[in-house]
Amino acid sequence: MSATPSAPSGTPARKTTRVLTGITTTGTPHLGNYVGAIKPAIEASLDPSVQSYYFLADLHALIKCQDPKRVEESRREIAATWLALGLDTDNAIFYRQSDIPEIPELTWMLSCVCAKGLMNRAHAYKAAVAENDEAGNQDPDKGITMGLFGYPVLMAADILMFNANKVPVGRDQIQHIEMARDMGGRFNHLFKGDFFTLPEAVVDDRVQVLGGLDGRKMSKSYNNTIALFSSEKKLQKLVRKIKTNSLEPGEPKDPDTCTLFQIYSAFASADEAQAMRDDYLAGIGWGDAKNRVFEYLNEQLREPRERYQALLEDPGHIEAVLQRGAERAREEAAPLMDRVRVAAGLGRFV
Ligand code: TRP
Repeated sequence: MSATPSAPSGTPARKTTRVLTGITTTGTPHLGNYVGAIKPAIEASLDPSVQSYYFLADLHALIKCQDPKRVEESRREIAATWLALGLDTDNAIFYRQSDIPEIPELTWMLSCVCAKGLMNRAHAYKAAVAENDEAGNQDPDKGITMGLFGYPVLMAADILMFNANKVPVGRDQIQHIEMARDMGGRFNHLFKGDFFTLPEAVVDDRVQVLGGLDGRKMSKSYNNTIALFSSEKKLQKLVRKIKTNSLEPGEPKDPDTCTLFQIYSAFASADEAQAMRDDYLAGIGWGDAKNRVFEYLNEQLREPRERYQALLEDPGHIEAVLQRGAERAREEAAPLMDRVRVAAGLGRFV
């Protein structure tokens, strides 16, 4: 099936590469998010031949989190983080999912062409059922909401709404992109038109997965994260907590199996990383190594941290930026949604 329909007449010419990604707003950005997702996304958005769409997936947040304060706070923190790190919002379209009413509307349209069996096979749903099984629950669907079950449909609407053709994601999300292709293709076929571009997942294996305090992948679910904009004191405390081994100062240490080194080198230049590597082999003590990593991170993060704090104190500014993003996003979403409605028989009478 052809993946790239031509732009519908009446809409402005579009850039051929449209990169889109969403960030679920349930947490506070940590070093791992920065290295693995935020930094590469901001860099990608600098390419003038690419139109990027970055959004706060706050409707998705409601699936996992029924704590309104947490969702609200996370939305602000994530928006402030991306702005503090220099996302150019004249170039990238930066918005909140919940500001685009066309997205839930499209979600419904897609739900009506999406096979239930396809959703039965979604990893997140299957994992929840498996947990119920293991816990010996009679009802395999215990505690599973329609939100969780239909999660991939909302995600498909996010992507198809903007005809995104490249979706940078982690490996765990590839299945969702395939499902979006399935739904988009089915809609195009059923309603005989090139409404939706079929997206491709972009999984960049060079993107680093950072280790956390305990050496496992840094992740909110392991509770082993270092918040990107922790205060200086907190940052120092957390860096000191990073798990190391019991080798004494003077004993050579292996940088390649060391989370502390990995975190350092994700921020440092190649030369700086090499110098640290030499010091490991020469037997640097853990206390000294941790001090150096802290000092280094603190220096790198000082300025964006100040901008971040200033932004959090000026929610009106963040709001204005997101409102403008929503306006730009809706300029694309509204005409497409009109076409979709008409195609399905929901157009106006006159
Ligand atoms: N499901 C994604 C995650 O948990 C977040 C997300 C929502 C997303 N909508 C998206 C990612 C659309 C890419 C495209 O990471």
